[in-house]
Amino acid sequence: MQPAPLSRSQEDASPLSPISVMLSGAASRHYDIVVRAGLLQSLGPLCQPVLLADARILILTDAQVAERYLSLATQTLQASGFEVVPCIIPAGEGSKTLAQAQKVYELLLQSGFTRKDAILGLGGGVVGDLSGYCASTYHRGMALIHVPTTLVAQVDSAIGGKTAVNFDRVKNIVGTFYQPLAVFSDPVLLESLPPRELAAGMAEVIKYGLIEASCLAENVADGADGYEGDFFGWLLNHTEKGTLRQHFPEMIRRCAAIKAAVVMQDELETKGLRFFLNLGHTFGHAYESLSQYGLLHGEAVAIGMVKAVRLSIQLGLIDPALEAQLLALYQPWELPAQPPSTMTFEPAALLQKMRQDKKNRDARIRLILPVKQAGQVVVRDDIPDAQILALLAE
Ligand SMILES: NC(=O)c1ccc[n+]([C@@H]2O[C@H](COP(=O)([O-])OP(=O)(O)OC[C@H]3O[C@@H](n4cnc5c(N)ncnc54)[C@H](O)[C@@H]3O)[C@@H](O)[C@H]2O)c1
Ligand SMILES: [Zn+2]
Repeated sequence: MQPAPLSRSQEDASPLSPISVMLSGAASRHYDIVVRAGLLQSLGPLCQPVLLADARILILTDAQVAERYLSLATQTLQASGFEVVPCIIPAGEGSKTLAQAQKVYELLLQSGFTRKDAILGLGGGVVGDLSGYCASTYHRGMALIHVPTTLVAQVDSAIGGKTAVNFDRVKNIVGTFYQPLAVFSDPVLLESLPPRELAAGMAEVIKYGLIEASCLAENVADGADGYEGDFFGWLLNHTEKGTLRQHFPEMIRRCAAIKAAVVMQDELETKGLRFFLNLGHTFGHAYESLSQYGLLHGEAVAIGMVKAVRLSIQLGLIDPALEAQLLALYQPWELPAQPPSTMTFEPAALLQKMRQDKKNRDARIRLILPVKQAGQVVVRDDIPDAQILALLAE
């Protein structure tokens, strides 16, 4: 593992500019995503322009994150004049429930919170999804700020406004679209993440490399808003040089910018663009669910992306060199290209799961496949079952 370059006590001297998310609708809405090393210690001043001066803040966090970061977050918010109420939930997916949401509502009510007050979600995707769900429903919508603490949350779940709880064993089946007032990401917090969780987040990062150009095509004018393009090449370059970890703030910012661009064009998932974010996920969800969640989501997506790339190569859509490049990006993080030998998967059962994917239309398996060069993708629903089965059997 490469050395961690960022000092916990110092803020990044040359911060990257915020990413502006501009959404249209009845009233135009706008918020910033700020990515800066060491930002947690300035959370109070960062929240001041976003919240009303007398807003109270419920910090929703999980037990593992609370142990490390709750007191610093509380101190800086209190020093900026905010009254803070902590709400600590158990860590893990099991907390994304209506029962947990009810506990949050009870605390909000007991503490006399109103619409002008805020929920600040300090944690990974579980905390973020629950925070968003509660903030969007309590008082028909109160202020929401995301402070994502996992790589998955910083590059994916905190951006885009999807909130959810699980219900009746169906994941994310109850939820809302609800945008935060701001997202504050501190890459330094990732230093305490378990390596497997960090690697799972890297799978989503690499996914952005494979879809970037298709996501940005419509709305990016000549490098506007700092989009440099060729994120895949950038990742390869830093991986080869072993410098990726030192560039985490830039990496996270670039991923956030890609997701924000998709969300700005397709906020409510009605135009198909958000679908590109599912590269590797149709294969991946099948592995994830048949592993009885023994595979992390990101690990399953890593396996799924290899399948998607191989299929593209078979179909002559992309240069065969892409597979080796993808595996080179996986290597430092020990991301799996195939399921571990300790797990067995029946290809027919995997195919059956893929058929049940909720993103399918007319019972046809819809796949996002790389095309032309890394960064570009196409949606295909005409791949013969036999070809998919052969890939699943590899
Ligand atoms: N809303 C969306 O668009 C969206 C997108 C992707 C995923 N999700 C959801 O996100 C969830 C997964 O998120 P996740 O991968 O962040 O998992 P998570 O929130 O469960 O966090 C993973 C683990 O890391 C711990 N942790 C968090 N930050 C830490 C830190 N800085 N140091 C040490 N430990 C830390 C947590 O306590 C937890 O045990 C799923 O429920 C998924 O459905 C939502
Ligand atoms: Zn994912």
